[in-house]
Amino acid sequence: MNQIKSIKGTHDILPIECRKWQELEKIVHDACSMHGYGEIRTPILEQTPLFQRSVGQETDIVTKEMYSWKDRDGSDITLRPELTASVTRSFIQHNLGIQNAAQRLYYMGPLFRRERPQKGRQRQFHQFGVEAFGSVNPEQDAEIISIAWHILSKCGLNDDVILHLNSLGSSECRIKYIDSLKEFISPKLDKFSETSQRRFSKNTLRILDTKSDHEKTILKNAPQISDYFTEEDENHFNQLQNYLKVLKIPFTINQKLVRGLDYYSRTVFEFTCSALGSQDALLGGGRYDRLVEKLGGKSTPGIGFAAGMERFLIAMEGKQKEIRTNESKVFFVCTEEDGIPITLSLSQKLRNRGKEVIMDSRRRSMKAQLREANKLNARYALILGREEIDKSEIIVKDLIKGSQKKVEQSTLFDNL
Ligand code: HAM
Repeated sequence: MNQIKSIKGTHDILPIECRKWQELEKIVHDACSMHGYGEIRTPILEQTPLFQRSVGQETDIVTKEMYSWKDRDGSDITLRPELTASVTRSFIQHNLGIQNAAQRLYYMGPLFRRERPQKGRQRQFHQFGVEAFGSVNPEQDAEIISIAWHILSKCGLNDDVILHLNSLGSSECRIKYIDSLKEFISPKLDKFSETSQRRFSKNTLRILDTKSDHEKTILKNAPQISDYFTEEDENHFNQLQNYLKVLKIPFTINQKLVRGLDYYSRTVFEFTCSALGSQDALLGGGRYDRLVEKLGGKSTPGIGFAAGMERFLIAMEGKQKEIRTNESKVFFVCTEEDGIPITLSLSQKLRNRGKEVIMDSRRRSMKAQLREANKLNARYALILGREEIDKSEIIVKDLIKGSQKKVEQSTLFDNL
């Protein structure tokens, strides 16, 4: 029979890697609750129009990357390709804005995009992210960026990243800017790639995102969005920069940063990390002041970010604290059948006192069991042989020091 394998671009996360995931998840949970953000979990399946209306009809995600199908009842369903839209839907559906307090939410979970798989790019991947609804002010932007910075610091990554910052201005500013960008590109359009030519009419700003050096050179003299900022846009962006300086978060202004989703207005940002190679975007986000309205809610501003968890773990490789020998891990070695009830009961008592206990369930030789104890990085092996069972004793072997002592079973807890 041929073997069934996992689908291209999807990965199993095995127990040894899961420990690293759990460490990252813990950092995220701690950082978000420390900043007053509450966790939200939304369904993986959503109605397709949710993403068409938010992420945008002309974006790469919607035109070619979504896993979408017609369900048996004729409705259009999509495996979520991102979470801002889902969280915003939920915010509207459950009237979370009604208390008139800023709503601060965070999430973690799997997403699906049918991209070409490569290092740091999967078809099923995971993000953690935060979204804050209710404030138009730049201190909210600074808070969002400072959460990212806090998590990056806890992961030992803040010296390895660059924060790219830009403002896309208000819609008033963008309309004028797009007109002038079109005017600039139009006479040279035939020198641009097919993709850029396609973007020209429907998603002009994305041309600035080009990876082609040739196009970058042409765009060097293109008009800058900052020339079209309203006074409010300009104040907002300047204040944000001041706040980041107060927070000592280094950044670089990158006027070509537009991001690949349509809902952004004003602030956009991205942390890149060169250790990731070509897929160097580690974390990205921005403001989306019109999104709630666009999805049928009462006009409410919002801002957030999301980070690729696989990319975080790649960037953290080698930086991770050595997986320590677990101080509380105990391996029970028992070689006699009538020692099994003692093993079961002592293991239960140890676990109730917070120890991690593993027992052999294959009735193997003492040597094989000790080998496994070492392999699993246990701190202690507890050995129960014929003599120990008969005398109600047990051997406590310290696997780091190599020493061992025989103690009465009733005093075991005091001897670990
Ligand atoms: P995004 O830039 O599409 O933004 O994704 C955020 C991050 O997810 C990226 O920086 C990258 O680390 C990771 N990522 C994206 N695609 C893949 C993939 N195929 N494989 C592995 N990692 C990937 C958003 O999703 C927005 N919802 C962010 C946001 C939140 N904006 C405001 N609030």
